[in-house]
Amino acid sequence: MNARISPAPAQSDLEAFWMPFTANRQFKANPRLLTRAEGMHYWTADGRQVIDAVAGLWCVNAGHGRREITEAVTRQLSVMEYAPTFQMGHPIAFELANRLVAIAPPGMDRVFFTNSGSESVDTALKIAIAYHRARGAGQRTRFIGREKGYHGVGFGGMSVGGMVNNRKFFGSSMLPGVDHLPHTLDIGHNAFSRNLPQWGMHLANELERLIALHDASTIAAVIVEPISGSAGVLLPPVGYLKRLREICDKHDILLIFDEVITGFGRVGKPFAAQAFDVTPDLMTTAKGLSNGAIPMGAVFTQRKVYEAFMQGPENTIELFHGYTYSAHPVACAAALATLDIYAKEELLTRAATLSSTWEDAVHSMRGLPNVIDVRNYGLIGAVELEPRAGKPGARAFDVFLKCFERGVMVRQTGDVIALSPPLIIERGHIAQIVETLSQVIRETA
Ligand SMILES: Cc1ncc(COP(=O)(O)O)c(C=O)c1O
Repeated sequence: MNARISPAPAQSDLEAFWMPFTANRQFKANPRLLTRAEGMHYWTADGRQVIDAVAGLWCVNAGHGRREITEAVTRQLSVMEYAPTFQMGHPIAFELANRLVAIAPPGMDRVFFTNSGSESVDTALKIAIAYHRARGAGQRTRFIGREKGYHGVGFGGMSVGGMVNNRKFFGSSMLPGVDHLPHTLDIGHNAFSRNLPQWGMHLANELERLIALHDASTIAAVIVEPISGSAGVLLPPVGYLKRLREICDKHDILLIFDEVITGFGRVGKPFAAQAFDVTPDLMTTAKGLSNGAIPMGAVFTQRKVYEAFMQGPENTIELFHGYTYSAHPVACAAALATLDIYAKEELLTRAATLSSTWEDAVHSMRGLPNVIDVRNYGLIGAVELEPRAGKPGARAFDVFLKCFERGVMVRQTGDVIALSPPLIIERGHIAQIVETLSQVIRETA
């Protein structure tokens, strides 16, 4: 194989790439370049080994460099590199859909393929509107998202999302008719809760207030992340998601779970819907679906949603939506190989096995200087730091940089350090990550 491990580019060669969600000038002055990956580790351009405490970007759940995925992708490329799925099909797309519904929550047995989390979200929102229309309720077009929610960067996902910086730069270019639930982070009541916080279930009742304001007959769907990662790991209070489900049922509103980060084993079950025993009507996924190796996303729906579209003459297209690369054969091959690994190594439940070790390890950071909260669930962890006066995010950014220098890649968002390691993690890795992070927090004024 002629894998291209490029030499580190010169500083002047870094300009052309406008990097996403990155402080471009800071990065290009002090680049952090990764050139190789295997198992729990990356290697930098200057040859340092770095432990990956965030599974790339919450996606490499089976760890890096999985030979099985490489081989499946290579095989598929040599047999058929591309085939359309508009009015055509190819066998492994159907095989993958069947394999996915076999691990999905009850009744979620239809799958629409996309190429990313953002596309999954926009697809789910469009399906929700078209579903109501197909049932003669075309006036149901509103969405209810949540403050601090992250649903990707499409116009739909941005509109239902609730992260201020992701919205404010784009003016009023939002979907009309979107409202937001309050977020569920309350350090005053819930600081240092282990697993789900006890306080806050009543926040779900805010949905009743929004329904009273807009009238249920105008609302298509509620979309939330069961656990949100991007805004700094926000957990649902005990009973909160069940309450959202009850209210949606009462008013015939679809419930969408955005499981782009919680899907594929992150919380100790294949999906958070199963871990929390709440089944949504639609579920958006991506990331761990293909172990990050080839971009892919999938929207799961309840059969009733799919069936609502299956009307009219049989030769008409039922949903005018799709992507050139929906169910791309190479992505399907990567996803099937990923699912094989998950099954063989029991990775979709491994987070449950490790969660108490993980919980104790991350909560050992309670009491360190500036630590104002620690949160955990499954193999997710977060340490929230007191912001420096007038400089939100600066302290955590310094911690992120120093951790990387010391061989641990974490993720910083605001003043939160988020952790979401590959599910293959061993106890020794957990100790190393927490030891380094603790040391860095101690040294960071
Ligand atoms: C909950 C959630 N939804 C959607 C997305 C967007 O996914 P992508 O970056 O693949 O478009 C993300 C990405 O982190 C996410 O966490």
